[in-house]
Amino acid sequence: HATSVLAPPTKTYGHLNAETVLTVTRWTDRLFSFTTTRDPSLRFENGQFAMIGLELDGKPLLRAYSIASANYEEQLEFLSIMVPDGPLTSQLCKIVPGDIVLVGRKPVGTLLVDNLRPGRNLYLLATGTGLAPFMALIKDPAVYERFDRVILAHGVRVSGELAYANRIRHELPKDEFLGEDVAAKLLYYPTVTREEYQTTGRLTDLIESGKMFTDLNIDPIDPEHDRVMICGSEAMLADLKQMLEERGFDEGNNSRPGAYVVEKAFAEK
Ligand code: A2P
Repeated sequence: HATSVLAPPTKTYGHLNAETVLTVTRWTDRLFSFTTTRDPSLRFENGQFAMIGLELDGKPLLRAYSIASANYEEQLEFLSIMVPDGPLTSQLCKIVPGDIVLVGRKPVGTLLVDNLRPGRNLYLLATGTGLAPFMALIKDPAVYERFDRVILAHGVRVSGELAYANRIRHELPKDEFLGEDVAAKLLYYPTVTREEYQTTGRLTDLIESGKMFTDLNIDPIDPEHDRVMICGSEAMLADLKQMLEERGFDEGNNSRPGAYVVEKAFAEK
């Protein structure tokens, strides 16, 4: 067992729950995920994010993290990058089971199935830690009720950053409750840009060239029938938004459903 180097919080905070870290998974030297206990009063929708963090120098230091666990699960799960000079992530990456993480009581966000009009295929397009909200959504039975196909495309630099690939490919299709829907409807499309892999190149280029659709053997993306959720870096969001708008997709939000919705993935500078 690794020993803790993080001090527990010195106070309680009204807007934050103190949750205990249960497991930590280290995907690469700059990518890790962890599960925590979940206060039974915490309510959220799949796709939402919460403010989470640590008490550092006597005050909470928080960042927006998408919740990677589904809203019916007993534990919370988060996916994080580690930025060496990032005030929060340089500390958070030291967590071990038993440490305390602060979790905001009011999750919010736009990546909700209710923010999309009904459709045929649902595209979940993620780069890096943008995968996190989609890990919750691919475990949501409502997603499979509303769409014929769910395409989860994850773009990363190197294949080691394909977090949860094994769970998506091998565990979810065997899940007692979701397995049938996952096996019938979920298409996982990982792509790597900085080393050799079965599929290489940016998501934008794979859509533009049509390679994604031929590889998956599905009809090309179409604003009349298909819906899209995007989560990634600022640059990725800007490029994909422009590409979708040019093709006639309209953006949805919490007051009006649309053909696509967007959220920036966690980043710490
Ligand atoms: P690339 O290696 O060509 O920069 P990051 O770890 O920097 O967030 O990047 C995650 C993945 O997102 C990488 O594969 C990266 O490709 C890709 N990426 C970066 N910018 C864009 C963009 N504007 N559109 C699509 N993919 C992008």
